[in-house]
Amino acid sequence: MTRSFRYSALPMRVVFGAGALLGLPAEVEALGLSRVLVLCSPEQEKVGRQVAAALGERAAGVLAEARMHVPVEVATRARDLARELGADGCVAVGGGSAIGLGKAIALEHGLPVVAVPTTYAGSEMTTIWGLTESGEKRTGRDERVLPRSVLYDPELTTSLPTRLSVTSGINAIAHAVEGLYAPDASPIVSLMAEEGARALAAALPAIVADGTDLEARAQAQYGAWLCGAVLGATTMSLHHKLCHTLGGTLDLPHAETHTVVLPYALAYNQPAAPQAVAALSRALGDVPDPARALWELAGRLGAPRSLRELGMAVDDISRVVEIALASPYANPRPLSREGIDRLLRAAWRGDPPGAVGGTSRVLPGTSAG
Ligand SMILES: [Fe+2]
Repeated sequence: MTRSFRYSALPMRVVFGAGALLGLPAEVEALGLSRVLVLCSPEQEKVGRQVAAALGERAAGVLAEARMHVPVEVATRARDLARELGADGCVAVGGGSAIGLGKAIALEHGLPVVAVPTTYAGSEMTTIWGLTESGEKRTGRDERVLPRSVLYDPELTTSLPTRLSVTSGINAIAHAVEGLYAPDASPIVSLMAEEGARALAAALPAIVADGTDLEARAQAQYGAWLCGAVLGATTMSLHHKLCHTLGGTLDLPHAETHTVVLPYALAYNQPAAPQAVAALSRALGDVPDPARALWELAGRLGAPRSLRELGMAVDDISRVVEIALASPYANPRPLSREGIDRLLRAAWRGDPPGAVGGTSRVLPGTSAG
């Protein structure tokens, strides 16, 4: 039966393809912008300068100071520099840090943003913003932060290191997974999620074999776009709650943590999410158990598969369980202390994810897909 749903499309433009960077000046001009400040992280300064060169006289300058979690001082500095240089907009080049900085400036000062993503994080497709002030991170959703235009050029991603490509790609697949069983899932978003997971799962092994394979890079970025759109349209559940707790309280690395936890969070939810299991099974090549297939994929790609190898101490598990259970949120399968504890212990050791929280087989007759 087709369930009822709501779906709001976000007002933005996407330009995709190898060589798309050449069209950036026209994109900027179409938005009525004449001088833009290029934002990037120090690690991505080279590609930031490449983008500024493509912009020619429309580039007002480059600020290579974007950092994780968007410190408010950096956002203020970028705003002041934009004012000093007479910039009327920003072009954010890179991953979550640079695009997050562009969004913070859009939120606080109304400067329009064009995004040029070079990782698979997907932030450019969402209205989610974050700002960190005196160690405290505020986040929210606001349409004002949405990039006006997003330019995906796979040629800019060929230098993304293989290991980072893999964990960033699996982090993107996590958005597809949780979007498929989200409380606000809808048919078009589920199509994007299935296709996004399929494209990334197919592209990542080819990228590990040859990081300069442009066709594989294009396929991965196409998947990342779709998974980002899913993130922008749905509410995330257990997997994200666990990863944010692990990142926030233990400072575990973002994409690696998502990579390790995903098979276990999915194994926990699979019995209560038959439609998500069916979609992911198709996406991953008609596999019987998507959670297991993702765990095997991570192994083949040489990605980390245990929280232990990310430096987590086994004694921290019970604290993470308590925080993850402290505030209620939507999840297809009810959360039990015992189940989450078992999930985290399996993820800490890096066991095959099959038996977490009971069975990972699809139980007939359960609701919430
Ligand atoms: Fe995420």
